[in-house]
Amino acid sequence: MLDAGGQYCHLIARKVRDLGVYAEVRPSESPASELASARGIIISGGPSSVYDPDSPTVDPAIFATGQPVLGICYGQQLMAHLLGGHVRKGEKGEYGFATLDLAEAADPVFGGLAGRQQIWMSHRDVVSSPPAGFTITGRTDTCAVAAMANPQRKLYAVQFHPEVVHTTRGREYLSNFVFQVCGCQKDWDPRHRVPTIEQEIRDCAGNRKVFFFVSGGVDSSVAFALAIRALGPERVRGVYVDTGLMREGETEFVRRLPGLTVEHAADQFLTALAGVTDPEQKRHIIGEEFVRVQQRIIDSRHLLDEDWILGQGTIYPDTIESGGTAKAALIKTHHNRVAGIQLLIECGRVLEPLKSFYKDEVREVGRELGLPAELLDRHPFPGPGLAIRCLCSEFDAPVRATPDGWLLPVNSVGVQGDSRSYAPVLAIGELDHERATALINRISGINRVVAPVETRVPVESMQAVACSLTPERIARLRRADAMVRRLSHESGYDRQVWQFPVILIPLGTAGAPDSVVLRPVDSMDGMTARSVTMPPDLLRAMCRGLLEIPEIAGVFYDLTHKPPGTIEWE
Ligand code: XMP
Repeated sequence: MLDAGGQYCHLIARKVRDLGVYAEVRPSESPASELASARGIIISGGPSSVYDPDSPTVDPAIFATGQPVLGICYGQQLMAHLLGGHVRKGEKGEYGFATLDLAEAADPVFGGLAGRQQIWMSHRDVVSSPPAGFTITGRTDTCAVAAMANPQRKLYAVQFHPEVVHTTRGREYLSNFVFQVCGCQKDWDPRHRVPTIEQEIRDCAGNRKVFFFVSGGVDSSVAFALAIRALGPERVRGVYVDTGLMREGETEFVRRLPGLTVEHAADQFLTALAGVTDPEQKRHIIGEEFVRVQQRIIDSRHLLDEDWILGQGTIYPDTIESGGTAKAALIKTHHNRVAGIQLLIECGRVLEPLKSFYKDEVREVGRELGLPAELLDRHPFPGPGLAIRCLCSEFDAPVRATPDGWLLPVNSVGVQGDSRSYAPVLAIGELDHERATALINRISGINRVVAPVETRVPVESMQAVACSLTPERIARLRRADAMVRRLSHESGYDRQVWQFPVILIPLGTAGAPDSVVLRPVDSMDGMTARSVTMPPDLLRAMCRGLLEIPEIAGVFYDLTHKPPGTIEWE
């Protein structure tokens, strides 16, 4: 996979691996000589135009090696551009569903398929004329070159996205390319890798011991369990830091992992956070305290001695700069910049047994190890914990009625373009995702829309109450979160959503100063997400339970997709 900057690059690689074929992501400019061992090459989509001055490109020599190449979206445009075809700047983009008309003599990528197919498009520029030697193999009403091919040279390209589920036969197209055109064998199965990973762990560790900071999430837990299997429990140690910002039952849950000790640091974190309201400051303080705890543990256990190495649950997308989110890199620097860890990394004393696997493959490995499903199927939970789901307010402020709804005096984070925005939230009267999206596009200065589901008093009579991050408010959120999680689990709804944050906002009345926001989302990797609906009965049950908490004034539902709203509220 040559990464031309597309958010779908990892998705394509994962889809290929799902087919049972190993795929690796490389920078688009990798020289052809470094790709010589690949059975085939796929060029991903990307946000650029081939005419932009610094747009990603590929080594043109890859088209002359005889290796099959498939260009997807920007990859098709790049192939056309570099081989003498023409790309036209699109005036307006084409986003969403389209119908592909396949030419009679369809190319091998389309296998036996012919006629009309549902596909998914996301592009602005288009190929206006294919390079010499290529034929047009598919078109849509608005895109004259939706697919092109030069089978003699084994070069294929599509303007649409075969990797997304909305392209109904997309999996078959990728499968045809991988097996029929590239001649790959189905020989990649993460479960069969366990003995190899164990051997790699033994080779890396030599006769040293391994130490892990375990978060209780899937990646670090699986890495930890693998190390125990490979080296035996005597040579593996792990610490879980209880920050006091975790969910109900979390510490007890993690304690069940053998070989793990718990470092109690709640007082340290909560004292440092007392009186703080600013979201960035909260994150910063939590990062700083984490570093202190880590350093303390490293010093007190003499982990810098030569007979220790550090184990980490780094997974494949974390290792690739352009593929991982910029924020992922930031999150890592927070926790990895502690001087002791930096030193271990610099002298190569770090073990990362899962660094070539995707999350779902890590789950497969975990299942192979016999780890419980309740650990492997957990939703992601942010490192700073409940702190970034417990919003604070510097001032008292009223709700303001506007022609479009109520403007809530609560700011939340969003992503608009490449930057994070921090803006007030609009509440509307109904659970209407389409209207919410249209309002965010129309009204400047808001990045999130919610709907009240049930409130003790009318929304217009609620107000924001000045408050910070107190142990009482964290306990309130913990209780609300536990209740939502229990109902979500009992109904099986947690298996239908990718993540389900529960947020506490300082909006209410004198007697009930806070409200709860429910934020169930569907996503592939957290980089983009869709707000999803919930069965009405379940929603009612959640509201009933939440309003049994006397300090909760109301329950709201977040209708915002990402972009423009982030998954978390801070
Ligand atoms: P956002 O809010 O940016 O979140 O849409 C995307 C995904 O990242 C998680 N997240 C974090 N994870 N430390 C973490 O370990 C953090 O500071 C952090 N912030 C956000 C979030 O839960 C979602 O899955």
